[in-house]
Amino acid sequence: MKIKYLNSRGNFKLDKADENSYLYFPIGNDADVMACVTPNLHGDNKIGQNSFLLEPVSVEGLHMTNNGRNVWFRINKKTVWAANGCSPLQVLAKQDESEEKKDFVTVEAGRLWHKMTRENASLGIAVTVLSYAPIGHQAEMMKVTAQNIGRDKLTIEPTVAIPLYGRSADNIRDHRHVTSLLHRTFVRKNGIEVKPTLSFDERGHVKNNVSYGVYTLDEEGKAPISFYPVLESFIGEGGNLTYPKAVVDQTYGKSIAMYEGDKVEGFESIAAMKMDKVVLKPGETKEYCIILSYNNQGLELLNPENEKRVFEETVRYWEEQLGIEVETGNKEFDQWLKWVGIQPTLRRIYGCSFLPHHDYGRGGRGYRDLWQDSLALLLNSKESIRNQLLSYYGGVRIDGSNATIIGKEPGDFIADRNSIVRMWMDHGVWPCMTTLLYINQTGDYEILLEETSYFKDRIIHRGTEMDGLWQEDSKVLHTHTNEIYKGTILEHILVQNLTAFYDVGDHGHMRLLGADWNDALDMAKENGESVAFSAAYAGNLENLGKLLLRLYKEKDWKKVALCTELMELIGNDPNIYKSVEKKREILKNYCNNCGSYISGKKEWISCEILAKDLLEKAEQIKKNIRSKEWIATGEEELGGWFNSYYDNNKNKVEGIFESGIRMMLTGQVFTILSRTATDQQISMIVKAADRLLFDDKIGGYRLNTNFNELKTDLGRMFGFAYGSKENGSVFSHMTVMYANALYSRGFVKEGYRALNQLFLQAADFESSRIYPGIPEYFNQNGRGLYNYLTGSASWYMLTVLTEMFGVKGDLGDLVIEPKLMACQFDKEGYAKISFYFARRKLLLIYENPEMKEYGDYEVEEIFIDDLKHDFEDSLPVIKRSYLKELEEEKEHVIRVKLA
Ligand code: G1P
Repeated sequence: MKIKYLNSRGNFKLDKADENSYLYFPIGNDADVMACVTPNLHGDNKIGQNSFLLEPVSVEGLHMTNNGRNVWFRINKKTVWAANGCSPLQVLAKQDESEEKKDFVTVEAGRLWHKMTRENASLGIAVTVLSYAPIGHQAEMMKVTAQNIGRDKLTIEPTVAIPLYGRSADNIRDHRHVTSLLHRTFVRKNGIEVKPTLSFDERGHVKNNVSYGVYTLDEEGKAPISFYPVLESFIGEGGNLTYPKAVVDQTYGKSIAMYEGDKVEGFESIAAMKMDKVVLKPGETKEYCIILSYNNQGLELLNPENEKRVFEETVRYWEEQLGIEVETGNKEFDQWLKWVGIQPTLRRIYGCSFLPHHDYGRGGRGYRDLWQDSLALLLNSKESIRNQLLSYYGGVRIDGSNATIIGKEPGDFIADRNSIVRMWMDHGVWPCMTTLLYINQTGDYEILLEETSYFKDRIIHRGTEMDGLWQEDSKVLHTHTNEIYKGTILEHILVQNLTAFYDVGDHGHMRLLGADWNDALDMAKENGESVAFSAAYAGNLENLGKLLLRLYKEKDWKKVALCTELMELIGNDPNIYKSVEKKREILKNYCNNCGSYISGKKEWISCEILAKDLLEKAEQIKKNIRSKEWIATGEEELGGWFNSYYDNNKNKVEGIFESGIRMMLTGQVFTILSRTATDQQISMIVKAADRLLFDDKIGGYRLNTNFNELKTDLGRMFGFAYGSKENGSVFSHMTVMYANALYSRGFVKEGYRALNQLFLQAADFESSRIYPGIPEYFNQNGRGLYNYLTGSASWYMLTVLTEMFGVKGDLGDLVIEPKLMACQFDKEGYAKISFYFARRKLLLIYENPEMKEYGDYEVEEIFIDDLKHDFEDSLPVIKRSYLKELEEEKEHVIRVKLA
């Protein structure tokens, strides 16, 4: 079984798609629709945690229930056959020796539409269901086409049968029955609509104002002839959704049918609607449009012309989400990458909560994920994400912690979905990383001087204390004189990174607190330390320090104003950094000074002094890691690596133990990325990782070796089976960051290996069993899980553009530093990438006619739209001012000759 790409747009086809149990395809849109559909038309549809039109479904529910979208066909007045393949006849035919009797199911998909075709040769019927979420509408469209593929005439009587759940996901196991009593179900001219009276959820009982409906018309505009709005009467006593009595028993069906104007109070609802009988000659087709709609949106689309128009608009919308596309020597990779490229947009829509594997959370977006998704969104789009970044900074607390969930609207911050006070110590890392990328891509360093407020709630002292003076209605930090306090973005970044610098454990590394990037390292709150993220913060302090020095020298940035309280964290005698107690004391004082209110006073500080202080701090962190955490195996071929964590018993987590060797990838990634690891150490790390973590059957580098211990002094991850999720799976996000780090340090062959292995695994359908894209992880069998909504997609795109193809911003100018392997060029020696930069759509073509390997080639000449472009420095740079002169509406071609 294999994915076949159909064209250069990444459209693909999968035969026998129904022979896979965990496949699902997202159909979402800009109007909050978050749906998914399987080859058997299962999967749910919702616009939020409290508004599910179809019953919420987790992965196992995809094959254990039959609650999805279905259309029944009574064929030639006797045989009952289902578009979703669930009828007893179809299930039994799977065992039949004759292929003719079996259904053959194919899925074709494109941006973001899913087309399932099910045909049965012996019955002479083929049914195609095209599903998508029409852009701009809270609705899902199902265009159903039935065709006579036999030699004789075919009579069909279709019955749409889509259970209408119409309530909050919480009601699955919280008053499922009682909430059905709230249902008011109406039979309309061409559909069935449920409008519950109340909505029961964690807010209590509120008046409901969302209606859920399914409507249908045939291609001539004819409505259904009868309706069955009540699930229990549709299936009949003893019946079920694979054998609904209203379909199989015509007399019964007639006896319970309802008509326009009828109304039912209470009861589980179903949009079951019978269409008139049709006779199809061989080859003839009949089309029906079915719309699943919230608040009756999109009913005008039940007409072939409007449907066609909105379908085209939808495809165009999704095409436009693709900023980065490549053409390399591997066409399959190029196509696959188009699917990875839209994943960050999908996560912007779905958050991390609303696909079958993502059966947790209640919507909104996690703080870390939000910043990482912005990496790709800022690379992808022509539009600036400046305002979005500014608004996200409003989620920072003055103690360096942050609101953990960000709602859909700017400024919509939520402390924690379960009111649990928990602090993830890595959260402060990501805003700085993303903002530095933004500044380099755009040259907009002045964003650092924009001002915004700080988030305020009851939680103070980095999640350890409660503020008794806090007033519930206040969500922003105020001064003692009760004015809203605003600080610059630079100040926010400093707050996040400097407080982390002082928040150390006994070994002088930053405390692990509630967890770091690895959410499942959540049992070492008191004494755990994250060496990995200490290195990440060191990288931030260094990068920010370097930027400030540049701004000081090149842009005349002499001084910046920061809140007085923050000055305590800057410019201390470096000797005190060696003392863990002293560091903690400084942090405590700082938190005391800005717990409930802040003075509102600001002080000026020289940019140069500030920059040097940051560089000094970065160096101190690195020295501490280098001197204490290197694990030397003592043997050249075994390599060496950095210890990534301390557990709650204050012990080093990695090394060579009697029970075996323990190594984790995370510590390697951030020591490499932050330049804590020397080049020689990187070579040793690569050797160790290749030996201890690499497995080419499941996608490459695992997150860790098997500890064979339930380490309750570190985290729940050790409770997961080895090879799954955060315990030793190939966790795409960290593997991609490993690749990114290696590339950034010039270890190109090694970085490519890590990235390519992920692609190879994803593309090996027999093993990964996923549609094109990158999943969160590959398990012990190589299966891809948690598809689509993963931060690894952003990092993959970022790495392909800025490292592999080496096109990246430097304070707004475009630097060209290709790191492509010879095997990545096509037969003629070309490798191409299109992307946005300086609001221009650029197509960059590398020409490597001699097929030289990375390391053997250099940029020789650059042509922009056929004009030779001279560059002075040793590193080829195209000035932003030059790009800005180019016409905005058209694509420009940059040819780069390598020799
Ligand atoms: C998920 C979470 C991410 C977290 C990671 C490791 O990764 O979304 O925030 O850091 O697990 O626990 P993702 O699915 O984004 O790859």
